[in-house]
Amino acid sequence: MNVLVTGGAGFIGSNFVRLLLHQRPDWRVTVLDKLTYAGNPANLDDLKTSSRFTFYKGDICDGSLMEKLIPPQDAVVNFAAETHVDRSLTGADDFLRTAVLGTNTMLEIIQRHPAIRYIQISTDEVYGSLEEGSATEASPLVPRNPYSASKAGGDLLALSYKESFGLDVLITRSSNNFGPYQYPEKVMPLFITNLLEGKPVPLYGDGLNIRDWLFVEDNCHAILTVLEHGASGHIYNIGAGNEMPNITVTKMILEALNQPESMIRMVEDRPGHDRRYSLVSDKMRLLGWKPEAAFRDQLEATVAWYRENPVWWESLKSGAFKEYYRKMYEERKGYYE
Ligand code: NAD
Ligand code: DAU
Repeated sequence: MNVLVTGGAGFIGSNFVRLLLHQRPDWRVTVLDKLTYAGNPANLDDLKTSSRFTFYKGDICDGSLMEKLIPPQDAVVNFAAETHVDRSLTGADDFLRTAVLGTNTMLEIIQRHPAIRYIQISTDEVYGSLEEGSATEASPLVPRNPYSASKAGGDLLALSYKESFGLDVLITRSSNNFGPYQYPEKVMPLFITNLLEGKPVPLYGDGLNIRDWLFVEDNCHAILTVLEHGASGHIYNIGAGNEMPNITVTKMILEALNQPESMIRMVEDRPGHDRRYSLVSDKMRLLGWKPEAAFRDQLEATVAWYRENPVWWESLKSGAFKEYYRKMYEERKGYYE
């Protein structure tokens, strides 16, 4: 099996590549990644020596490059995206370009090589904010921020290639991932590394927004299951059933690091902050998938990873990140009050 993983130097993509190389000893994996601020070759350092692994720096919107990389593949798994909601609120051009035009670039090529299976990695955010109940794969798409709107656009485009040309397209929509190698702008690594640096943790709004936490390795196992056993044209929700208000997760992180609650800063809310995401993941369970361990154990393993790998995240939090942090947090109402 030859698999192209686009966006494979990011958080989930790099964990997925590691899983493929370890668990499928006769598969060859090619990674294509633009190496944006969130893409990090160090995420793949331990895999570089494998003769079954190849890395290319490039953009999924680059048709001539993709024309070289896609045809020899049996499958393409597309993780490439701009992924941070807060950043999409201050400029969404790159979000749309990668999620919509990049997806189209690849599907136009696959149209000429229809034996290739294409997996679009999407998100529970496309279902919008749910006050009650949970989204099934048939629920309406109601994205409420530029990031999730860009992801919904990519999903609809991918499905249109199934309908129009019969391509072997599948979509996964997972909830919030956490674990090793997550860029420290996302809440979990931001809070853990802030506390390791002796800094406070900025909690948006009333801290009662709810997310369903999924360990990244569980998501990667689910994606591999979909790649191998998913039905063509189908969408698969991937949630672990760990729905929790942000304040609860924050207190668990503080506890894991033996830090007092006085480290919490209640700061001005994110504009249009989705209150709650929630998924029905029965289709995934029917394929035999389930999370491997309890949330608390996975959270503690995650905290331990960041504690043991300061070299990995300290460099990411220097340079341009310092300016991002100043603007995003230190100027935010509540941070210094
Ligand atoms: P990430 O930001 O860590 O990684 C994204 C990767 O895509 C980076 O390596 C970046 O360099 C690359 N990239 C961006 N634009 C590109 C382009 N035009 N061409 C090639 N590469 C490009 O993100 P992540 O958290 O690993 O998310 C991966 C995918 O999973 C995304 O599609 C995201 O929407 C989806 N997703 C993420 C979560 C989550 O909780 N992190 C949950 C559900 C879905
Ligand atoms: O639900 C899946 C989505 O999860 C993915 O599609 C996105 O790519 C990923 O970034 C993530 O989106 P969120 O907006 O849910 O993740 P984030 O880590 O930014 O925020 C999680 C929650 O924590 C959210 O309710 C906002 C809150 N938060 C976030 C940050 C960065 C804070 O309270 N303080 C913060 O500093």
